[in-house]
Formats: sequence, C-alpha cells, structure tokens
Amino acid sequence: MAGIAQWWRDAAIYQVYLRSFADGDGDGIGDLRGVRDRLDYLADLGIDAIWLTPWYPSPMADAGYDIADYRDIDPVFGSLADADALIAEAHQRGIRIIIDVVPNHCSDQHPWFQAALAAAPRSPERSRFWFRPGRGPGGDLPPNNWVSHFGGPAWTRVTEPDGRPGQWYLHLFAPQQPDFNWDNTEVREELLSVLRFWLDRGVDGVRIDSAAILVKDPFLADVEQELPPQNVHAPAQQTPDTQPLHPYIDRDGIHEIYREWRRIADSYPGGRALIGEIWLPEPRRFALYLRPNEMHSAFNFEFLRCAWDAVALRRTIDDTLAAHAPVGAPASWVLSNHDVTRHVTRYGRADTTFDFAERHHGDPLDLELGTRRARAAALLTLALPGSVYVYQGEELGLWEVEDLPDAVRQDPMFHRTRGADPGRDGCRVPLPWSGTSAPFGFSPAGAAAQPWLPQPATWSDCTVEAQSEDPTSMLELYRAALRLRRDQPALRSEREPLRWIAAEPGVLAFRRGDEFACVINLSDAPVELPEHDSVLLSSDPLQGDLLAPDAAVWLRLRGR
Ligand code: GLC
Repeated sequence: MAGIAQWWRDAAIYQVYLRSFADGDGDGIGDLRGVRDRLDYLADLGIDAIWLTPWYPSPMADAGYDIADYRDIDPVFGSLADADALIAEAHQRGIRIIIDVVPNHCSDQHPWFQAALAAAPRSPERSRFWFRPGRGPGGDLPPNNWVSHFGGPAWTRVTEPDGRPGQWYLHLFAPQQPDFNWDNTEVREELLSVLRFWLDRGVDGVRIDSAAILVKDPFLADVEQELPPQNVHAPAQQTPDTQPLHPYIDRDGIHEIYREWRRIADSYPGGRALIGEIWLPEPRRFALYLRPNEMHSAFNFEFLRCAWDAVALRRTIDDTLAAHAPVGAPASWVLSNHDVTRHVTRYGRADTTFDFAERHHGDPLDLELGTRRARAAALLTLALPGSVYVYQGEELGLWEVEDLPDAVRQDPMFHRTRGADPGRDGCRVPLPWSGTSAPFGFSPAGAAAQPWLPQPATWSDCTVEAQSEDPTSMLELYRAALRLRRDQPALRSEREPLRWIAAEPGVLAFRRGDEFACVINLSDAPVELPEHDSVLLSSDPLQGDLLAPDAAVWLRLRGR
C-alpha cells in the first residue's frame, strides 16, 4: 500500500442520487449536466468525494440498479463524454468520483440475459445466470422457496423459444434483475473488465452494490424459515459468527472475488477505493471484507439502524471501532441513503431505529424534534474517526416525503408488495435548490417536464438559496462542520482515536486529541458542558454553559 493515497480513510463523501440531484436538460430527471453545474456547490460544502448512483443504460426497473450496458451512460443522464467531463471537472476542484457497480445482477435487457432466453436449458448462455427447472407437476412451482427483497418469489418462469413454459431464473430483487452466477468464469472476467474500464477512465473508487450476496449455494436448497422479504437484506437478529445466514449471504468463495478486485484497484495510481455495500449484522463477520487484501471500506449500516439513544449509540460506535481495528480498516459512518427512511423522519418518531421490515410509515411524527436530533447527529457523525457519508438533501434537513400519491410511486418495493411496503421513493424526491415553488430550481426555467416525483410545497423554506447565509440553517451547520472537520487535524488524524469522557447518563462525550471534544445530550434535561476554552460549533444555541436536550457541541479544550 506504500505510496497509495488512502484518501477514503477519513473522507467526507457526498452521495449523489443522480435522478434527483439536478436536472440540466429539463426532462424532470436529474443528470450529469446537473451535477457538473453544481460542482461548485459541492466544493463549497466541503466534501472530498462524490458517490454517484448508477448512470448506465438501463430500463430503470429499479432506478438504474438494473444495468443493460456496464460500459456506457444512459441517455437520460448524458453521455460518456459528460462522464469524462464530470470526472475531470471534479478533479479540478479536488473532488474524487466514486461510481456504483452492480455485480450481483444485471438487467433482463442485458445482451447476456437476452442470449440466455434465446438459448436452450443447460447452455453456456444460461449458465451465466441461475436457470433451473421448476418443481411440482409440469414444473409449475419455483425451484425453491426463496423470496425476493422486493416481495414475491425470487424466481420467474420463462417461455422457451419454442413457446412452451420452461425454466425458472433466480432474481433476488425484481424479475427485471436476473442474478449472475458467480461460479461462472465469464461472469468473473466480465466484471473485472468492467472495473478496469472505469478505473482507466479515471474514477477514484467504486461502490459495490449488494456486495455480500454474490455467491450462492449451488444446491439452491430451500431455507427452513424464509425471512420476510425486505428483512433478508438486513437481518434484525444477531447471528453468531459461524452460523450461515442464508444460502446466498456471505458464502464461501465471496472473499476470493474481492481479493481479485483489490489486486486490480491497487495496481492503479493515486488510490482507487473499493467500498462495499454490506448488510451484515455481525461486526466481526462484516470486518472480514475489510482485511488488508480485500475492500478498502464498507458502509456501516449498524450505525444507521441504531436508535437515538446514548447507550445504544455508544455500544454501536464501540463495536464498530473494535471490529475495524484488527483488520486495520477505517470505520465509516452513514445516517441516510437512497434506500432508507430519511433520518429527520426516523428521529422524529417514538421508535428511532431503522428496519426494512418495519418503516413506521404513518406513525406519529414530530419533525421539529427529528430536525433537532438530526442537527446533533450531524455533529456526532462528523466528529467520529473514519469516513463519513452525506446523503444528498440531508444537508438541507429534508425529511421523508411520506404522502406521495400511489400513482407516482416508482419503487418496485412498493409495487411488488402491493403497497404493503411504502418503498423508497420518499427519500428520493428531487432536491430543492431555489425559488418559492416547484421545481425549486431542480429543473431549468421553462423545463418541459415536472420533476419525476413531486416536491412538497413546504420545501420552499428548505432550498439551498433559502438556507444559504442563514446561520441557523441545517445547510450552514453542515458547511461549518465540514469546514472545521477539514481544518481540525485531530478530526482527520487516525493518531487521535476516540476517547470517551465520563458524562452523565444519556450524554455522550468524547475527545479526539487533547484539544477537541464533542458532547451530545440525548437525555431530557440540559447538561453542563465540560471545561473548555471555546465553543467551535453547536447544533443549538447554548444557554450559558448548558447544552439543551437533543443538541450537540464541538469544543476546543484547554490546552494540556
Ligand atoms: C442495493 C441498492 C438498492 C438496489 C439494490 C438492488 O441495495 O442500494 O437501491 O435496489 O441494491 O440493486
């Protein structure tokens, strides 16, 4: 690793959900032109890297996570030339680019899947996927009892070229997302070549989608007790290290794949990061993916799932740091992304945890409380050692839009569960940039189309324009915190680990180095601040030396 810039170890990474960030051409869908036009905003925010959700040609059955061509850009987002320009213009501003790669499945429109449909059972074309005969009379039943993350069976039956009902194929997500067979050499070679294609074009890293579920048990055995659909992705119960979770989660052989990816990534100059999307509830098992010859980093979803509670948060932080230390990997901290309920909303409810199986959609909600807590959570997260993700719109304090009409919802999670699961559209509503009515500057003036999801009228107070230069706004809190995080050597240095400071029940307080402390009050009474020199930043105005409930503060301590 000597000589490789390990920028990902302490980076602040901004997640651009491409469809909803900024629309440059007026079709109501965000695109690369829109991102290029807003690079100065991102530079000014103070982030180090951008992670862009999939930009490839796609029928958009799962918002681009169904890829039809891994080496091009969907025309709705722009062109390869736009991608090259974006990479270059970001680099000019010192911003790195991370792209999403989806290795578990492709689109049913991908040439390989189309060739598989046209070919015979047991053909080389079909062996790149998981085709199997059905069970029961006439093979009418799926080959096993696995369910899709998006609801319904994980199998779909095809019509053979001769017109007869034929084999079934496996799709852990939507039927339009057939799973690749990673035991197939061509599949492995192809995805390695895709990785090289983008690293050659200058991207600084890849986010590996659904990274822990690539390898399947080839027996495709029934599972004794199938987990409820969305829960397979994030099993709620803790499982001992040794117990298999599911015949496709964290299987033997998976680590070998990432060791190969790592060899390629590290052969490029300048530091190219492999970042895994790994939903595994057992921290030690999760950390195996972060051994020195595997991924550089992975998303820490246990932090995202954790309740707004001092004991639970401290345990999660300690467990995370303890799991990462032995493998020498940096921890990462995530509060929100494009798959989960926005944290302003989560923190405004009685149950502040996140679980795919229970989103608490429609439960009583106190948005003001959620916003207070989100402000405090920002200061907590940005002071922890490691890398940190900011999901677009969290810097504006956006909440989950829960009252979207059914007719505009696009998420297959909503449609395949027949609305039992509200799905993820509510955290994907296009960003408000300026002005007092929709599209709030998301699309250019005179745009032909409305934003692909309607924005709430009340977002007029949340636009970048409305919040800029308002010292009490969420945006200015993020700007100040990201700037300080960049300038405070203790916050960026791995030589300054987190050290807890004794605090009253319900209060989290820790130091980084001798001169920096962060205090978060999760109790229901004001607490006194520890001795300090000055207040660097607070999420809420201080009352003398008292920190209000659900507020956080960054302090400069007396020099020692
Ligand atoms: C990941 C993505 C999610 C997508 C799924 C299938 O979990 O974050 O948005 O639907 O994989 O690709």
